[in-house]
Amino acid sequence: MIKKLTKISLRGGSKVAFKLFKKSVPKLDNYSLSHGVSLVTYDNPISTISEQFNSIRTNIQFSSVDRNLRSILFTSSAPSEGKSTVSNNVAISWAKQDKRVLLIDADLRRPTIHRTFGVSNHLGLSNFLSGTVDLGTIVQPTMVENLFVITSGPTAPNPSELLGSQRINQLFATLSEEFDCLIFDAPPINSVTDAQVLAAKVDGVVLVVPYKIANKVGVAKAKRSLETVHAHILGVIMNRMTKDKLEGYYGGEYSGYYGVNPK
Ligand SMILES: Nc1ncnc2c1ncn2[C@@H]1O[C@H](COP(=O)(O)OP(=O)(O)O)[C@@H](O)[C@H]1O
Ligand SMILES: [Mg+2]
Repeated sequence: MIKKLTKISLRGGSKVAFKLFKKSVPKLDNYSLSHGVSLVTYDNPISTISEQFNSIRTNIQFSSVDRNLRSILFTSSAPSEGKSTVSNNVAISWAKQDKRVLLIDADLRRPTIHRTFGVSNHLGLSNFLSGTVDLGTIVQPTMVENLFVITSGPTAPNPSELLGSQRINQLFATLSEEFDCLIFDAPPINSVTDAQVLAAKVDGVVLVVPYKIANKVGVAKAKRSLETVHAHILGVIMNRMTKDKLEGYYGGEYSGYYGVNPK
């Protein structure tokens, strides 16, 4: 049973749960593909929104007392729901605690980390997984102390195969020794098998759900897909809580997964 960790109350049954979702399919936001995502935890660390990312980080750290979380994956049901925004800011928050953190762009189809951190994407994860370079070549420092990144690398025709290859096990074995925490910015779970493959390998999975944007059926399907591969679901982050709920638009809230209970 996963503990409820949220500050928002999700009690009130299906009526409340229903309001969290939307039925229509939202237009895909491609802005972050060319400009990266906003790093509020870096640009404005003393702010309500950064505090919320800090509290998300703390809640994740304490969500699994019986298990040492060395690798965490962020996914969502569909593209453009805030996986990169949330995972990248949580990674910064984590690194600021003097932990050596490695943020990995595993969204090989819609990568953004090279744009967000302004680093080269000439060599990245796809190069390592296809066997052309070693790990030392693809780990890059960032402007944040203690935070390193692996970018996606050039677009590959077969991301699912690459992420399912033996080389990924080598990545886990080697980098878990060198870093306190590996954070995977993963693809959405419903469209392709990429995220499922990885979800089965990490210590914990966090599902990002955009408030009043996510599709209820889609979120329920995402939960089932994670359960199919016996992923350890740590919880849900409600992204894009609006001003009437929180002080800032960027607000993310972390909740015990079953608090949302999408059936
Ligand atoms: N909480 C938020 N507040 C405002 N904009 C957001 C928020 N979360 C995500 N976005 C915006 O939504 C778009 C998609 O976010 P992104 O993190 O790239 O999604 P994903 O990684 O799931 O594809 C980006 O333009 C990003 O800036
Ligand atoms: Mg992304």
